[in-house]
Amino acid sequence: KKQAYIRNFAIIAHIDHGKSTLADRIMEMTNTVSQRESSEQLLDDMAVEKAHGVTVKSRTVRNYYVDPAGQEYEYNLIDTPGHVDFNYEVSRSLSATDGALLLVDATKGVQAQTVANYRLAKEAGIVLVPIINKVDNAMADVDRTMLELMDLDPSFTPDTTLKISAKTGLGVKEVLLAVRDRIPAPSGDPTKPLKALVFDSKFDPYQGVVVQARLFDGRLDYRDQLTFMAHQISTLSKEIGFFAPQAQATNVLSAGDVGYIVTGIKDPQAVQVGDTITTSDHGLLSPLPGYQTIEPMVYAGIYPRGGQYRDLKVAIEKLSLNDAAFQYVPEQSEALGTGFRGGFLGIFHLQIIRERLKSEFGLDVITTMPNATFRVWVQGEDQPRYIENPNQFPDYHLIKEVDEPYVLAKITAPNEHLNAIMRLAEGRRGELIDLATIGELLSITYRMPISEIAYDFFNELKSVSHGFATLSTSRDDYGPSDLVRLDIAIDYANVDALTFVMHRLHVQDFAQVLVTKLKDLVPRKLQSMPIQASVEGRVIARADIPPLRKVAAAGSKPSKKQQQLRRQGQKAHIDLPQAVFDAILDIN
Ligand code: GTP
Repeated sequence: KKQAYIRNFAIIAHIDHGKSTLADRIMEMTNTVSQRESSEQLLDDMAVEKAHGVTVKSRTVRNYYVDPAGQEYEYNLIDTPGHVDFNYEVSRSLSATDGALLLVDATKGVQAQTVANYRLAKEAGIVLVPIINKVDNAMADVDRTMLELMDLDPSFTPDTTLKISAKTGLGVKEVLLAVRDRIPAPSGDPTKPLKALVFDSKFDPYQGVVVQARLFDGRLDYRDQLTFMAHQISTLSKEIGFFAPQAQATNVLSAGDVGYIVTGIKDPQAVQVGDTITTSDHGLLSPLPGYQTIEPMVYAGIYPRGGQYRDLKVAIEKLSLNDAAFQYVPEQSEALGTGFRGGFLGIFHLQIIRERLKSEFGLDVITTMPNATFRVWVQGEDQPRYIENPNQFPDYHLIKEVDEPYVLAKITAPNEHLNAIMRLAEGRRGELIDLATIGELLSITYRMPISEIAYDFFNELKSVSHGFATLSTSRDDYGPSDLVRLDIAIDYANVDALTFVMHRLHVQDFAQVLVTKLKDLVPRKLQSMPIQASVEGRVIARADIPPLRKVAAAGSKPSKKQQQLRRQGQKAHIDLPQAVFDAILDIN
């Protein structure tokens, strides 16, 4: 099979613009699946994806396309996620392709993720085919969408842009032809040593690590001895193949192909996404550049509910193999026991991880309130400390300066929502950097602390703009910030899982609402228990948890002596339900 007859491409788009629908239609028109099978979206098969109606993981499917002249082509299609938290998956997938279909919904026009994905594709240096989707919809405004696309890239013209309905199939034939004619065939050398890029991986309980790889050079035979170059791990491949869309074993993959390899490796940490695979004999000397490691936006504690630490550890290792953006280190909490501090790309990412732990591993976990990394300059130290856990935030009288990380938030929205968006962004300490237009849309850039954007900003943005505004973020520098540590004591004992670092502006309101909520959520005991919120040694809010039963209330106010005893050395044996942490997220 010649590379001239292979095309590796992705579909990129803003969320809900129709990627999965177009992918289904392509699989159907190439007879990869029957029409009946595709009545349900085939690619979004993970439980969390069904629940949220979004794509979280990229997938690769091989289709065989027969063109009008009767020539058969191998079309490797990679579906990519659209939510702002999963940008990283998009750029990884793109590095395995030679081109992408850039899909825009004609009822919505160019939106923030359209622009962000366009930039990722340009960085990857791949060819783009612009497509306007949903032309069947009564609300479609094809002309306006076309103008916006031309604004984005002058090479997108009415002649080069396809107009389709992924739903009815209108124009999808032309899409298949454009893939043949406009996306370049791969140009690797099958006679050179094997050079394959791992762009995705997962852990299978029976097969061990299964990777997806793009072969740039060389060939891979069934049962070749392979080396994963990052950790120099050798293994005999157990099975190789491709997805169509179910796994299909094959004997050979060669330069230009995309496929899977069952490695048999049982240690999920031995293989990483971005790794280069070569043959153990006559292999490559130096690996591909791989991927940049990504820095998480937010961190949160993940703790098992009731003694399943071992299970949690195994699950987290496996999950992180499948989600390279998710990072973790072990962590200890007095209140919650042994667990992990996870790093995430955003709150939605955290939520997805929590749900995947439940749906794929049957584990119930407690996740604490997420925070950004703080940079703290301490008296008498010349290097700053980078702090990911609020408990390590130093005492206020030791601190010279505190900095927090910022992002550039690029918001696109129709003009009429500008005021509402500015009010929202300024209430979150946003600083206006740039205001530009793309077609009839405004593109507004704010510099904002991650801590202000991480909680619910995206949801509020959607709400103030009636669903029209969209968001993409990129990291910016640290900046000085008046951050303080808020400690919570229940029954005179500090609860480490309830330590927060936040801006002085927000702390009073936050503390007030928090103690009020905690009063109802923390399980009662026989005696009444005070909840105290303190900043810099001063109690700024307080509430009392009533005693369990009326009878016990008689002597509920602890005597001076009892108070003294409780203050001394005793840990709070407080059972913190997840509801406590959910309520905290709600306050923000
Ligand atoms: P994510 O997977 O969440 O990133 O979204 P997506 O881009 O894959 O969008 P999806 O294919 O799930 O489509 C979103 C919605 O648009 C669905 O309700 C589709 O039925 C609808 N849709 C997709 N294509 C068309 C089209 O050509 N015309 C119309 N009218 N609706 C469409």
